[in-house]
Amino acid sequence: MADTIALTGATGFVGAAVARRLTTAGHRIQALIRPASIYKQPADIAAEWIAGDLDDVQSLQRLVKGVAAVIHCAGAVRGSTREHFNRINADGLARLVRATVNQHPMPRLLLISSLSAREPHLSHYAASKRQGERLLTEQSHQLSWTIYRPCAVYGPGDREILPVFKWMAKGIAPVLGSGNGRFSLIYVNDLAEAIATWLDRNCCQSGTYELHDGNPGGYSWHDVINTIRQLRRKAMVRLQIPLVLVKLTAALNLLAARTVGYAPMLTPGKVCELSHPDWVCDNAALISATGWTPKILLPEGLQLTLSA
Ligand SMILES: NC(=O)c1ccc[n+]([C@@H]2O[C@H](COP(=O)([O-])OP(=O)(O)OC[C@H]3O[C@@H](n4cnc5c(N)ncnc54)[C@H](OP(=O)(O)O)[C@@H]3O)[C@@H](O)[C@H]2O)c1
Repeated sequence: MADTIALTGATGFVGAAVARRLTTAGHRIQALIRPASIYKQPADIAAEWIAGDLDDVQSLQRLVKGVAAVIHCAGAVRGSTREHFNRINADGLARLVRATVNQHPMPRLLLISSLSAREPHLSHYAASKRQGERLLTEQSHQLSWTIYRPCAVYGPGDREILPVFKWMAKGIAPVLGSGNGRFSLIYVNDLAEAIATWLDRNCCQSGTYELHDGNPGGYSWHDVINTIRQLRRKAMVRLQIPLVLVKLTAALNLLAARTVGYAPMLTPGKVCELSHPDWVCDNAALISATGWTPKILLPEGLQLTLSA
């Protein structure tokens, strides 16, 4: 049944895909938008846009008023300080939870966390995602909550992995260190489908679920490079980038970000995440709880991503 849903992060990569999937299914969306990001409002998403911020309690109260469910996709994914990540990924979530539990009837809440929460010692980002999860599980009391922990998400509109895929499509394949670490991937529309399934089937409450594209052992960078080489049908040049060089660049970038005042993606913490050898995750619990199954494996997902 079509419901009214509160959505955060709809101007972002994941949230926009979720908004498109839900509006296509006929749901009405109340979407939080930061005033400075009005220009990012996707023209093809028919939502009631609610101006506000995760820092602003009143806008969160307006956001969740009268909704059947809250889907929390907003988050800080780049930044230079622990405080920045915690303020958005933990304190902002706490405010959203408080606004949600004050609603009658109380909506269900789905938190889009991250697989990085499995290794909170690696970065401020990972620690803040874990902190957000802890806060939701310990303080939500009567709230019906679910946590999704996606692995790396890719697709059109992504700003993290897509630039690397595009270099590879041009024939230059940067490889960090040995490139032998393994990671799971998920195409953004499969993640949006998993979120729609949570919503429509009213299932898998109060649990933490990992999700990936259906390839159980994940991928190495060599697998990704080989897949893109097969799609392009051309040779590729592999550029082995020493870890020490990336660490140095990340440290300089962090220094520059703190001096000039921008939110950096490449930081020493991000390098710790990137060089972690095991980001493979397990879909089984989510599939068994919801019946959702991912549909897009890497060759098709890369084709869709690179041709968009
Ligand atoms: N992309 C991935 O590979 C991946 C993997 C696992 C988990 N995740 C999680 O998925 C979520 C979305 O990631 P993404 O890749 O879509 O990131 P993104 O493109 O940077 O989008 C982040 C969204 O959060 C919003 N936001 C940030 N701070 C906010 C605040 N203080 N108040 C209100 N909104 C705020 C942003 O709004 P503005 O447009 O105003 O900046 C934007 O809509 C994050 O929680 C991330 O941890 C992502």
